[in-house]
Amino acid sequence: MDIHHYLKDRQGLIDRTLERYLRGWKQHPKNLNKAMHYSVFSGGKRLRPILTLAVGGLFGAKSRVLLPFACTLELIHTYSLIHDDLPALDNDDLRRGKLTSHKLFGEGIALLSGDALLAEAFHLMTRPQSVRALDCMLVVELVREISHAAGVDGLVGGQAVDLEVGGQTMDIATVEYIHARKTGALFLTAARVGARIGRAAPKDLRRISRYAERLGLAFQITDDILDAGNSSGEAKQSENHNDNNNKEAEKATYPSVAGLPTARARVRELLKNCLKEVEPFGIAADPLRGIAQFVVERAV
Ligand code: IPE
Ligand code: IPE
Ligand code: MG
Ligand code: MG
Repeated sequence: MDIHHYLKDRQGLIDRTLERYLRGWKQHPKNLNKAMHYSVFSGGKRLRPILTLAVGGLFGAKSRVLLPFACTLELIHTYSLIHDDLPALDNDDLRRGKLTSHKLFGEGIALLSGDALLAEAFHLMTRPQSVRALDCMLVVELVREISHAAGVDGLVGGQAVDLEVGGQTMDIATVEYIHARKTGALFLTAARVGARIGRAAPKDLRRISRYAERLGLAFQITDDILDAGNSSGEAKQSENHNDNNNKEAEKATYPSVAGLPTARARVRELLKNCLKEVEPFGIAADPLRGIAQFVVERAV
């Protein structure tokens, strides 16, 4: 399959769906809305919602049912990036080649637009028309799973450890612990939500979870390899990581702790594991293979 064509097509679907949902947001307060729209539509790859659609599709779930949950994850991801870029965290001026939210709208509105996106994410997935096709108990479990992934044991917890350890020396196990939470938790839940909506059997859900855990880790190591600026793959000069006040440049990452060749080898190993996990699903899992290859090919 042509993975680039597949990703582009799914990206289009997510974009159109987000546009439709966002139209429902009130136009006031004006700057808050502008900031929310700006960050949601500034060129994200939409990997997490695509993962939900791909895994859900594997188990026969309909896109119509998956989309509200998929878009919820993208809104949570977007909020996390706005806050991640703030001076109190990574202090970045650019994201996706464009000014970061706080550079354009000020810190207050950027902070609040992140807060609002997180709240609206939960509002979106629990709309009556979004959950009509699902069993109520399943909806409660999905909300519980997604909130857990976004919270102390997941994204925010990972960001907090990342912040606390800063540039301190750390071992690979600590680096992987941070990655599994700040980035991995959302990947894991994106895949699991798709599988659960598709009513995957417990052993298949475990398989998909292992695939997604490895994918999330591979994704963050790849991102750090690209940030290290030594890849011939996707250039990331558009991300302002060389600024004097940028806090990310000082951080311990997989490549900075283990070195680039080891980081690349780890990414290749994780890809192999991902492919092995989805082997029993045959060609129906081609999108999952393609996604994993796409994620790592940027760095190796
Ligand atoms: C960037 O994620 C943040 C990390 C978790 C490393 P993505 O690279 O998926 O962000 P966009 O949305 O596609 O820009
Ligand atoms: C971002 O991690 C992770 C979250 C926002 C949860 P990074 O700080 O490593 O990612 P980039 O390089 O800013 O995209
Ligand atoms: Mg960060
Ligand atoms: Mg950052």
